[in-house]
Amino acid sequence: MTAVAAPDHVRFEHHEPGALGIGEAAPRLSWQVSHAPADYAQRAYEVAWEVTRGASGRTEAGHAVVHSADQVLVPWPGPELAARDAVSVRVRVQAPDGEWSPWSARATAERGLGAGDWRAAMVGPGYDEGPRETRRAPLLRREVDLPRDLEGATARLHVTAHGLAQVEVNGVRVGRDELLPGWTPYHERLRTFTFDVTEHLRPGANAIGAWLADGWFRGRFGFEGGTWDIYGEHVGLLAQLEVTTRDGERHVVVTDDAWRSAPGPLTRASLYDGETFDARLLPAGWSESGFDDAAWHPVVTHPFDASVLAAPDGPPVRCTDELAPVTVTPTGPGRFLLDFGQNHSGHLRLRVPAASAGTVVRVRHAEVLQDGDLYTRTLREAASTDEVVSAGEALEWEPRFTIHGFRYAEVSGWPGSSGSSGSSGSSRSPGSPATLPPGAVVSRVLHSDMARTGWFHASDPDLERLHDNVVWSLRSNFVDIPTDCPQRDERLGWTGDIQVFAPTAAFLYDVHGMLADWLRTLDIEQRRFGTVPVYVPWIPGGRFWQPTWDIAVWGDAATVTPFDLFTDSADTGLLERQLSSATAWVDRVLDLAGPDHVWDTGMQLGDWLDPSAPPEDPMRATTDPHLVATAYLARSVAVLARTYAALGRDAEAARYERLAGEVRAAYQERYVGSSDPLHRSTTALALGLAFGLVPDGEPRHRAGARLAQLVRESGYRVATGFAGTPVVTQALADTGHLAEAYALLLSHRSPSWLAMVDLGATTIWERWDSMLTDGTVNPGDMTSFNHYALGSVADWLHRVVAGLAPASPGYRTLRLAPRPGGGLTCAGARHLTPYGEASVAWEIADGELTVRWHVPVGCTAEVDVPGVAPFAVGHGAGEVSAPWVLSDAVVRVDGSVADGELATAPTL
Ligand code: BGC
Repeated sequence: MTAVAAPDHVRFEHHEPGALGIGEAAPRLSWQVSHAPADYAQRAYEVAWEVTRGASGRTEAGHAVVHSADQVLVPWPGPELAARDAVSVRVRVQAPDGEWSPWSARATAERGLGAGDWRAAMVGPGYDEGPRETRRAPLLRREVDLPRDLEGATARLHVTAHGLAQVEVNGVRVGRDELLPGWTPYHERLRTFTFDVTEHLRPGANAIGAWLADGWFRGRFGFEGGTWDIYGEHVGLLAQLEVTTRDGERHVVVTDDAWRSAPGPLTRASLYDGETFDARLLPAGWSESGFDDAAWHPVVTHPFDASVLAAPDGPPVRCTDELAPVTVTPTGPGRFLLDFGQNHSGHLRLRVPAASAGTVVRVRHAEVLQDGDLYTRTLREAASTDEVVSAGEALEWEPRFTIHGFRYAEVSGWPGSSGSSGSSGSSRSPGSPATLPPGAVVSRVLHSDMARTGWFHASDPDLERLHDNVVWSLRSNFVDIPTDCPQRDERLGWTGDIQVFAPTAAFLYDVHGMLADWLRTLDIEQRRFGTVPVYVPWIPGGRFWQPTWDIAVWGDAATVTPFDLFTDSADTGLLERQLSSATAWVDRVLDLAGPDHVWDTGMQLGDWLDPSAPPEDPMRATTDPHLVATAYLARSVAVLARTYAALGRDAEAARYERLAGEVRAAYQERYVGSSDPLHRSTTALALGLAFGLVPDGEPRHRAGARLAQLVRESGYRVATGFAGTPVVTQALADTGHLAEAYALLLSHRSPSWLAMVDLGATTIWERWDSMLTDGTVNPGDMTSFNHYALGSVADWLHRVVAGLAPASPGYRTLRLAPRPGGGLTCAGARHLTPYGEASVAWEIADGELTVRWHVPVGCTAEVDVPGVAPFAVGHGAGEVSAPWVLSDAVVRVDGSVADGELATAPTL
């Protein structure tokens, strides 16, 4: 028995295990080794591959031994994969003594169709759909004749849509994907999805059917009442069913003029407004063979350019959880108020009992209650109302094409046991009162189906709740694209929000595929408009938002976000792909800033939603927006230099490094100069320190002290918005003011992170005071209860409070450097790095600090614990202890700070 474990988690690119329809001809491979002797370091690896050619059915096999210590995103060692090729690999690794590990289990993937392999046409309903406000979502279908002998056959369904689609084969839904094909600039890039439908098919007669809906493509979406037909006037389905029989023959059925169409039972289907399903209008058996579609209409074929078809990089949206209501309160006949205990994105599944035909059960959603009722003003023009109309029998139903952001729901019109109710759901005939039995209603949590990769714990339950809130805001807003919020009439891919949140997100979930995919969209929109719009995909921005505005913090997603993802994953391919986008952004802003390198012209959002800004003017922050813009320019130029360096392009790296130095010097001259009042706000100081813009030595010391003083003077209330919040604790800690950083983090005085928790938050709010301290909702327009940006402090929890951070890309080297404080007696974090699980946990007991860690095989770590000289460790578990005196500076429950270290900190 060898001592090195067989590799596991063998993975292609960032795809799920067994992924179908991948786009890469040469997918990079990664693997993990769960355990190995202390002196193990990978000397070589061997990949045994088998490729079954889709074209011929023939299998080729081979293997490659590569002398390399790499195990993350290594180059594909086999032959190029063509369309439909299925690949299976096994991996083993060699120890320094020459001994080989056992082989890993097989990992598989399958390439999708290339643009030239599509024979399908984009087909849509062939009848007059009527006015868009009242048109019914269409159904499409066709009969499919297959050979009599399907023994040993395999079947793939490749599908995409203009609009949203859900496909059924022989009456059974295909896959679990929701909101397919998600949201991209459809005319530039339309993603296709591949399903294994072998089990759905039977010899001879079959049928295939599709539900279609408006979705982002042509439904009402966006600002000021929204825009219809953003991408076109016609929805359509593009589907190609390929059945390969044992003898290698391929039977292909595509969307073409043989399909039939009819209005379906969804009389309303809108992402913002919700959905109405009228069960009376459902044609029984419509997606099964033998259904009589004589009264249906021929479909219409829409012109379509197959060259825009592409495979997704990330996972689709799926239901990842079900939440049962924690309380159900009857509020009237057949009416109930449900609390799911957790703000989230999703929709309800109802098990509606038998009722008289025409009974309407209605569901409304809200994030918060006011005076015991749903509070919906903050949804603005998103009706978020779903309805099901009974056909008489009991039915189980959930919306197909809508999603809401909510914690509470009101269900009305619920039938009593006599089952009679008026069609409005309000007038009811006598019978036993309606009750909502357990299981009748659950909420289906929907978001991109990413793997969880990060966890945090601490001795303070409020801090743990804050961290949970960050996780839930991530889950609620990673819905195919990274959105600002899941509930109101926005739900857009705001670039600034994800720019500040990406490091946190990359720790908590495997967001790489999804964000890499969205960064392609950023690139597409940037080319279209000549700059990085404030949200992508771009849609009409109403009277205010323009796609050609150059906005710092937001546009910096082009440079900073790919690099943050690279830091977490070591994916140089992503950096390479986004390089022209990142360079174009930096070059453009350098140009805008002009020869003095200070970006002090044009409209800026600055430190958006700084708590001092009035509710009606979230841009009116304390910090000069051009200071924020210039600080971010310095940061982006420096990040671009590092990007070029990581790609081995030294000349460009040196050029941007020089420019970064020049912008830094310009920033110093304009803003840091001895007593510039602009550099006196919390955000200004925090940005200057965190981005390395304040000269080392005395100026840095002074700026740190001034920042700490501001934080103390504010009574440990937060004074930062989207720009300052992600860096304020870091800037304090890095300049020797850890106690102030903890005091701010753990303060319960509003505005603060824990004041949100005290007011019952279960997600991170858009603004510090989305709910005012008296429990009423902030009257401002920007009042979402589920925005992740201010949750970016969780990155500091992971890196500094727990002490787990990458020291080199992909965590190949780790920095384990917890900085206990704030009266916490323990904390810790775990992260599934590309190499496997890394963890660190510390506790203070009996005058001693003990730090325990685990470093995955393939990594080394630098351990830096207060009171102990830093040292290096290899993979495996370890621990170290040091004497510990709990600091005098203890944060009281009310957020004030007891005398001690804080009180004696220097004041300037
Ligand atoms: C969004 C934000 C976004 C901002 C731009 C808001 O409406 O919800 O999160 O970044 O506009 O300033």
